[in-house]
Amino acid sequence: MGATPSGSPPEASPAPGCVDEASFRSYAAELQPEADVYGLRLDPAPKIDDDHWGEKLAVLLEHPVPLVSLTFGLPAPGDIARLQASGSKVFATVTIPDEAIAAQDAGVDALIVQGPAAGGHSATFDPARTPGPTSTAQLIRQIRSVVSLPLIAAGGVDGPDAVRDLLAAGAETVAVGTLLLRADEAGTSPTHRAALADPAFDETVITRAFTGRPARALRNGFIDRHDGNAPAAYPAVHHLTRALRQAAAQAGDAERVHLWAGTGYRNASQGPTASVIEALTRGL
Ligand SMILES: Cc1cc2nc3c(=O)[nH]c(=O)nc-3n(C[C@H](O)[C@H](O)[C@H](O)COP(=O)(O)O)c2cc1C
Repeated sequence: MGATPSGSPPEASPAPGCVDEASFRSYAAELQPEADVYGLRLDPAPKIDDDHWGEKLAVLLEHPVPLVSLTFGLPAPGDIARLQASGSKVFATVTIPDEAIAAQDAGVDALIVQGPAAGGHSATFDPARTPGPTSTAQLIRQIRSVVSLPLIAAGGVDGPDAVRDLLAAGAETVAVGTLLLRADEAGTSPTHRAALADPAFDETVITRAFTGRPARALRNGFIDRHDGNAPAAYPAVHHLTRALRQAAAQAGDAERVHLWAGTGYRNASQGPTASVIEALTRGL
C-alpha cells in the first residue's frame, strides 16, 4: 500500500478528537446486541489514544527508515524536520487541496493524494467530513494546481487504464491497496478474502459505523443496521468495536466485520503481488 515502513505506518497524532459521551454511549448500547452474538460486553466508556505516536517517532529517529508515510493528519512540523534530519523522506496523505497546502507548508517531501474511491479509512484530517464524489484524477488536477510537490495518486485503481489516466492527470506515480487484498502476500483474513470474491457483496460504501472515521468497505449487514448512527469519534469507536470485529472475522461472519474495499475490488485477483503490479504497469 504505497511505500511505507514495514507494518502499519505511524498515524500522525493530532490532538485526539472530542467525543460526545452521550452519543458514544448510545452507540455502544445500540451495538451491544451485535456483541451478544459472541458473548462480548462492549465498554461504553470512550477510549481515546494517540496510537503511541511518541514511541513510534522515537523508534523511527533511533532506527531511521528510507520513507515514513503519514496519514490522518500532520504532526508538529518539528517532528517532520527531525525525521528528515535522521535520513527519512516524509510523505503525507491528503484528501483535499487545503490539506495538500498544509502538508506542503509543514515541509513534507511528497504527497499521497487519496481519492474517495480508496478502500479502507479516508485519510481526511477531519473525521467528521464525509469524502465527496471527486474522482482521484480530478483531485490530482486540483492539487497539482496548488502545490509543487511530487504527487502519488491513490484510490479506486482497477487496472492499467486507471494508472495511465492518473499519470496523465499529473501524478508522478500511483499506489494501490485494494487490488492487492487477495494477493498471496497480503495479510487479509480468510473472511475478508472470501467476501471480496463473493458476488453477494456487490457494492462499496463509505461508513463510520466500524471505527468512527469514514472508510470505504463492502456494504454488509452491520453497515446497513448502524451506518447512520455512528458518532464521528475515532479512535473511540474503533476501540469499541474491535473485539466484536475480531470475533466476527474469526467466525467467518462477513456481516459483522469491516470488509475494507475500494471501488476497484472486483479486479482484485489471487496470485503473487509481483503479477498484480506487472499487469498494472504493462504497456506504460
Ligand atoms: C485494507 C486496507 C488497509 C489500509 N491501511 C492503511 C494504513 O494502515 N495506512 C495508510 O496510510 N493507508 C492505508 N490504506 C489506504 C491505502 O494506502 C490507499 O489509500 C488505498 O488503498 C488506495 O485505494 P485503493 O484501495 O482503491 O487502491 C489501507 C487500505 C486498505 C484497503
